[in-house]
Amino acid sequence: MENVTIFEHPLIQHKISILRDKRTGTNEFRQLVDEIAMLEGFVALSDLPVEDVEVETPIETCMTPMIAGRKLAVVPILRAGLGMVSGILALVPSAKVGHIGMYRDEETHEPQEYYCKLPDPIAERTIVVCDPMLATGGSAIDAINQIKKHGGKNIKFMCIIAAPEGLERLHREHPDIQIYVGALDRQLNENAYICPGLGDAGDRIFGTK
Ligand code: PRP
Ligand code: URA
Repeated sequence: MENVTIFEHPLIQHKISILRDKRTGTNEFRQLVDEIAMLEGFVALSDLPVEDVEVETPIETCMTPMIAGRKLAVVPILRAGLGMVSGILALVPSAKVGHIGMYRDEETHEPQEYYCKLPDPIAERTIVVCDPMLATGGSAIDAINQIKKHGGKNIKFMCIIAAPEGLERLHREHPDIQIYVGALDRQLNENAYICPGLGDAGDRIFGTK
């Protein structure tokens, strides 16, 4: 699929396998989500524009590249997306952070938006929307609709685990965005949970039930 990257890196695969294990506790889970976000971010941000600036080394003055032009905005989908923010900020500490609050209705599985605060203006920024789970795709699609309504153009979506149903739907609704997936799982179950998945990402990151 064009514009879709599914990571096959052994480090990402190994860390996702530990996330899947139901015995993995909150502390380790949070740490791993952070590390996977950083590894995915390293690749997802490989097209950030750079410009040469003058730097004086102890030896001589040189022109050397630094990140330029469009700046970055990280937009986690609350709650679980929050777990990925620090890993991306470790790579680009100057990034602005927006928030989109959504929860899935337990009966319909439709996303319900309860909060939206984005860096303003957002049009010139590269925007990384993050959420560990892409299940039906409803939350990601609505979040990206919101961002586009606010003028966002250069949008990337980063998740840790995706279901084929959600990935196809997101790609169909937003073919212009770059999608980064840590692992593509088998299918959704009757409760719209990803199989085999890792359970409820928000609950596992924040230790709630
Ligand atoms: C989870 C997850 C995504 C959404 C994915 O959030 O973090 O936002 O479900 O499902 P979808 O692709 O079917 O929309 P949840 O609604 O459980 O809220 P939480 O992050 O606050 O726990
Ligand atoms: N949200 C989750 O946290 N996990 C799933 O498997 C599906 C949606």
